[in-house]
Amino acid sequence: MKAEPRYPILTLLVPVMGLAILALSAGCRQDMRDQSRYEPLEHSNFFADGQASRLPVENTIARGQLRIDTHMFEGTLNGEQVETFPMPLTEALLNRGQERFQIYCTPCHDATGSGNGMVVQRGYAKPRSFHDIELRAKPVGYYFDVITRGFGAMPDYASQVKVEDRWAIVAYIRALQLSQGAEFSALPDADKDAVRKGAGAASQDEHGAEAHHGASHGKAH
Ligand code: HEC
Repeated sequence: MKAEPRYPILTLLVPVMGLAILALSAGCRQDMRDQSRYEPLEHSNFFADGQASRLPVENTIARGQLRIDTHMFEGTLNGEQVETFPMPLTEALLNRGQERFQIYCTPCHDATGSGNGMVVQRGYAKPRSFHDIELRAKPVGYYFDVITRGFGAMPDYASQVKVEDRWAIVAYIRALQLSQGAEFSALPDADKDAVRKGAGAASQDEHGAEAHHGASHGKAH
């Protein structure tokens, strides 16, 4: 039994119909792009200044760009640099701050903040240490401002580091400062013990070194 084509008429009709539709639509083409509206910055005879685009009403603020929270965006309250953070201090914030600090700040300030980063070792101006007594006393708003606007030889990081990350970095700088200059009384008990033991070990070391020194001294004679 020979298989006949099952829809001979339809297979012929489809291309014919397609051609017909094409021919028809070519005549009355109406694209969405050809609308009777102005393109951005197009010329217009309607407005006196000849421009179709109107300027936004004065003091217009784009969505998401309202920055009236000076604490967050300037690091100030009533014109004074803030002592507090505009967001809760969390471990996640500190971790983020550590990561951002290591990317953006260590090239000059080094990982401990002492100001001896690789770029400085290669001749760039040396910043003062973050453990400098006077710098430690500065409010957190000061640090936010330095990152946002730069300081002397240091460029600003406003375009690379977004606002929340700047605060995260400042929080991490505070942690760095604490790591090098915490009051003994502020340490948790376990750390106090470790410091006491460490102090003991150090003095033992000194004695050990003394004895060794004595021995080699004797040998030399
Ligand atoms: C290209 C090198 C460089 C990088 C990167 C850099 N700094 Fe600095 N920073 C400097 C220099 C140099 C100074 C000192 C500027 C001066 O005294 O003229 C300085 C000063 C500072 C000061 C102290 C201002 C004072 O009162 O002495 C702070 C705080 C500071 N930087 C924070 C940061 C933070 C946070 C970052 C990372 C976001 C950063 N810096 C990245 C070079 C750098």
